[in-house]
Amino acid sequence: MEETSLLRQSMCRAKGGAPGFKVAILGAAGGIGQPLAMLMKMNPLVSVLHLYDVVNTPGVTADLSHMNTSAVVKGFVGQAQLDNALTGMDLVIIPAGVPRKPGMTRDDLFNINAGIVRTLCEGVARCCPNALVTLISNPVNSTVPIAAEVFKKAGTYNPRRLLGVTTLDVVRANTFVAEVLGLDPRDVNVPVVGGHAGVTILPLLSQVKPPSSFTPEEVAYLTDRIQNGGTEVVEAKAGTGSATLSMAYAAAQFADACLRGLRGDAGIVECSYVASQVTELPFFASKVRLGRGGVEEIMPLGPLNEFERSGLEKAKKELAESIHKGVSFIKS
Ligand code: NAI
Repeated sequence: MEETSLLRQSMCRAKGGAPGFKVAILGAAGGIGQPLAMLMKMNPLVSVLHLYDVVNTPGVTADLSHMNTSAVVKGFVGQAQLDNALTGMDLVIIPAGVPRKPGMTRDDLFNINAGIVRTLCEGVARCCPNALVTLISNPVNSTVPIAAEVFKKAGTYNPRRLLGVTTLDVVRANTFVAEVLGLDPRDVNVPVVGGHAGVTILPLLSQVKPPSSFTPEEVAYLTDRIQNGGTEVVEAKAGTGSATLSMAYAAAQFADACLRGLRGDAGIVECSYVASQVTELPFFASKVRLGRGGVEEIMPLGPLNEFERSGLEKAKKELAESIHKGVSFIKS
């Protein structure tokens, strides 16, 4: 019965001719994973959605599979099913790992999440080495270098296809700046560069669109709120987790941009933490243009004011340490 209905579904898609992408979410039963899975099930560019976790994916999959959208959802649970979850995927989104509790930095998650990311990326290298990989698991500043080293070891590394997700920083920046300016947040665009932790999150308020000016007090308030937006949520959740709903929203927006890029749409630009020559560091977040090959172009930072230049120096210092820590984890 189930097979007949799956066959009918794929015949319908073949007749309709709509191109669709195969997407896997690793860590799909978690706080971010579940709402993200729902948003990806609603994305018309997705034809197949694989949900992998070490627990609870059968229930999440059964639940989402009742939504009358076209993506076909399949669940995979436990390490033994990782390879089946990954085979044939175009895009792999990774929110697997532990989140922060009050008082913790993202770096405090390193010891647990580094190993999780390594195992999952080894699976990607085995089963879908050409997929675009978007990493959400913290500390992103270190997990992206970890993934790069895993792929280098496996001989599958393509720097254009590995992206750290920093979209939530942009989403927050747009929201907080719009509040100050009295605008609709959908009309505001704030580039956020550097990385995804504390002072490495560097909003470029001098480049806000629409062009706007801020008092020194507003700059100080906005920079601090954007850099500590994650901590604001961790404290409000009081030990039950970190940002999940706004993160799922941001990750779904970023994944949609990646899929539109893969489809060949023009002019898709997002901020992301990628292998980069924008600074002397091997990884850096800045605006990137997405296309069929993944990252097609890394945009320059543009003119920075004095406040931003000094922020950049602080960001680079911390980033260098986080990158080194990630690389050494795999090399040693
Ligand atoms: P959560 O604990 O609610 O969910 C994590 C999920 O990962 C759980 O379902 C768990 O079973 C699963 N998991 C653990 N080990 C796994 C493995 N080896 N393979 C597959 N799945 C595994 O955590 P939440 O809130 O969803 O956060 C996930 C990660 O995202 C954390 O590291 C958090 O710090 C990070 N995060 C990143 C943000 C960003 O902007 N990049 C923003 C917010 C959170």
